[in-house]
Amino acid sequence: MAKINENYSKLPGNYLFSEIARRIQAYQANHPEADIIRLGIGDVTQPLVPAVIDAFHRGVTEMGHAETFRGYGPEQGYDFLIEKIIENDFKPLGVHLDMDEVFISDGAKCDTGNIQEIFSQDSIIAVTDPVYPVYVDSNVMAGRSGALGPDGRYERIVYLACTEANGLKPDLPKVPVDLIYLCFPNNPTGMTLKKDELKVWVDYARANRAVILFDAAYEAFIQEPDIPHSIYEIEGAKEVAIEFRSFSKTAGFTGTRCAYTVVPKTVMAYDSAGKAHSLNKLWLRRQTTKFNGVSYPIQVAAAAVYSPEGQAQIKAVIDYYMTNARIIREGLTQAGFKVYGGVNAPYIWLKTPDHLSSWEFFDKLLSEVQVVGTPGAGFGPSGEGYFRLTAFGSRENTERAMERIRSLKL
Ligand code: MLT
Repeated sequence: MAKINENYSKLPGNYLFSEIARRIQAYQANHPEADIIRLGIGDVTQPLVPAVIDAFHRGVTEMGHAETFRGYGPEQGYDFLIEKIIENDFKPLGVHLDMDEVFISDGAKCDTGNIQEIFSQDSIIAVTDPVYPVYVDSNVMAGRSGALGPDGRYERIVYLACTEANGLKPDLPKVPVDLIYLCFPNNPTGMTLKKDELKVWVDYARANRAVILFDAAYEAFIQEPDIPHSIYEIEGAKEVAIEFRSFSKTAGFTGTRCAYTVVPKTVMAYDSAGKAHSLNKLWLRRQTTKFNGVSYPIQVAAAAVYSPEGQAQIKAVIDYYMTNARIIREGLTQAGFKVYGGVNAPYIWLKTPDHLSSWEFFDKLLSEVQVVGTPGAGFGPSGEGYFRLTAFGSRENTERAMERIRSLKL
């Protein structure tokens, strides 16, 4: 008899963004004429830039000729892309990485979801709350969570509340933890940590032999100085941190799929006898077994992000989204909302008015002004009473959404 993985029964019915899509579909079915503006899922709307498209075409053309055709590529990614990543994303920060410390993949969602496989089943996980749901759900599936309590928290997961009381910045855990998921600039709050604030976490991990899983998918949106783009800017981080990066938001690859994960050879975790093991080796073993690499044309396209034209073109797109972020932040502030984020990140985190719950505000926005956002409660119990809007819409839709929200009867 085939038996299911019962850990799946502990999950909420739908993945957050699938639930939102379901509600939009239901509303649209009843109101076919509705002109819905979607600022919910953080999906980009601007096309791939010309430098990337040209390279993409070149890669596809090469695949059509016997002399340049390629079959399976290296599971870890082609050297031409890894070299560019190290040279452009890390060297200017003073961070040295070896070629075999960078793993190209098809998304930071997959990598942040899969990374837990290389850690012990009884690891204690700490997550910020609110949090990108993939970190929690993937550990629930793997059996690390325990049961879901009535307060919306899993009994074995340590929640690091990010509330107005701590300025939406997590405090160190009060109980011992083994793995700490940090995402900065943060999804969903849009907040950042300064170097000295991130150092506290690196020091904690070093002192406690913990590992930090650092999601830096939004680093390209940082505008202010003194905010680290990589955790490896912090001394000692290469002993305790794995970093996830993505071309999705940086260069419009949400539908194209390309990302990378950095696993320095010096990051260690321990077996039951206390012996240290390099996580780089384990991740390589995992990836070579379960992943066959990102397609050649997509890696060629991703490498073009680092050409001088590519850099100028993606910067213009990032500026476009960050102007949207400013329009949302200022528009909401003028309308009397309390807002966070949107300065160094493409997400704006707002407090719902009139003590509405996150989902009540979602329904109100959808039914009254046909604007979709993401309910804060979907990111964890501390997100209740908050709501997230993304800056990834078109300018026109962003401005129209602000007009509509300003017209809301509160
Ligand atoms: C989000 O809206 O939080 C992101 O688009 C999710 C993702 O990148 O998977």
